Amino acid sequence: MFVPTPPKDNLSSNLLEVRGLTVNFETVDRSVEVLRDVSIRVGKEEVVGVVGESGSGKSTLAQAIIGVLDIPPARITGGIVLFQGKEILPSSDGKANFRGKGINMIFQEPLTSLNPVYSVHDQMEEAVNIAEPKMEKKEKEALIRNSLREVMIRDVDGVLNVYPHQLSGGMRQRVSIAMVLVQKPNLLILDEPTTGLDLIVQRRIIGLIMSLKKEILSSILLITHDLEVAAYMCDRVYVMYAGKVVESGSMKDVLKKPLHPYTTMLKNSVPEGYVNEGTLKVSSGAPPDLRHLPSGCAFHPRCQFANDVCRSKIPELKAQKDGREVACWLYE
Ligand SMILES: Nc1ncnc2c1ncn2[C@@H]1O[C@H](COP(=O)(O)OP(=O)(O)O)[C@@H](O)[C@H]1O
Ligand code: SF4
Ligand SMILES: [Mg+2]
Repeated sequence: MFVPTPPKDNLSSNLLEVRGLTVNFETVDRSVEVLRDVSIRVGKEEVVGVVGESGSGKSTLAQAIIGVLDIPPARITGGIVLFQGKEILPSSDGKANFRGKGINMIFQEPLTSLNPVYSVHDQMEEAVNIAEPKMEKKEKEALIRNSLREVMIRDVDGVLNVYPHQLSGGMRQRVSIAMVLVQKPNLLILDEPTTGLDLIVQRRIIGLIMSLKKEILSSILLITHDLEVAAYMCDRVYVMYAGKVVESGSMKDVLKKPLHPYTTMLKNSVPEGYVNEGTLKVSSGAPPDLRHLPSGCAFHPRCQFANDVCRSKIPELKAQKDGREVACWLYE
């Protein structure tokens, strides 16, 4: 289905604005819509979360914004992305390629962004060369070393001389953060930055990201399946289900009183003691298969409030009070 491109006014005061983004993955025999009319915004110095189960389209959204989506098989069928008021997507080749020019991304697996054939020193040097081309060599070296010290790496020389695969997952993520420190992006996109790390390392990495934010004053778009991590870091949140935003609002409001039944389910699956009440319940049902989406509200097979309208008509995202939005027939 083609989604018409929304009007461009380029008067956006937001750092990042995604409007009506629709992305399909095309295979030989079918086209699957993985993002459906997604609109999000990130203000200056804001930390914004995108939360949803695996397969809900979060990484596709991040990759589309930064311009690293594989086109094909992906195809952008609608929407625009504005960064600092300028349209960065769609571009003629479907790529935004904003890395090193104001947007940086840290991936779940840092080996995705770190180059395996360069030592840590050589790739940090390259990052500095892009960010600070006029800087003296001596200053560049000092900047590299300081950044590594700031992410609590004690054996700076040892780390500088090795290749990424020789480091532990937690150390690699520290090196990725140090790279961001030298590049000072206006927007930092984090895609599951702590998934796969043990709990203690996770906490340290989150702490480092938050102190980095204070230091370089960048805005953060945090992509995560973990409401607990989002609760700790974010000012505002978008909840995604099956490629669509189903709820948004301030993190505090959404946690205190989730509107969408899916958000309630996510909240209730967070262990007790972290977010208000909430007991540890296993989420009911599995995420939908995007190739065969349920009719009407995609969440209806898992929703205890589903009625005939839910099963036949898709609820649109509608503004509520306090700047919140929800897509659910309970609020019509
Ligand atoms: N290269 C690809 N080709 C085909 N389908 C893909 C590709 N990458 C992702 N998808 C599909 O797009 C959907 C969303 O994936 P993704 O954005 O990675 O979700 P999330 O990050 O929320 O787990 C999934 O159903 C996934 O199977
Ligand atoms: S629209 Fe209906 S099925 Fe969907 S979340 Fe709301 S109540 Fe549940
Ligand atoms: Mg992902």
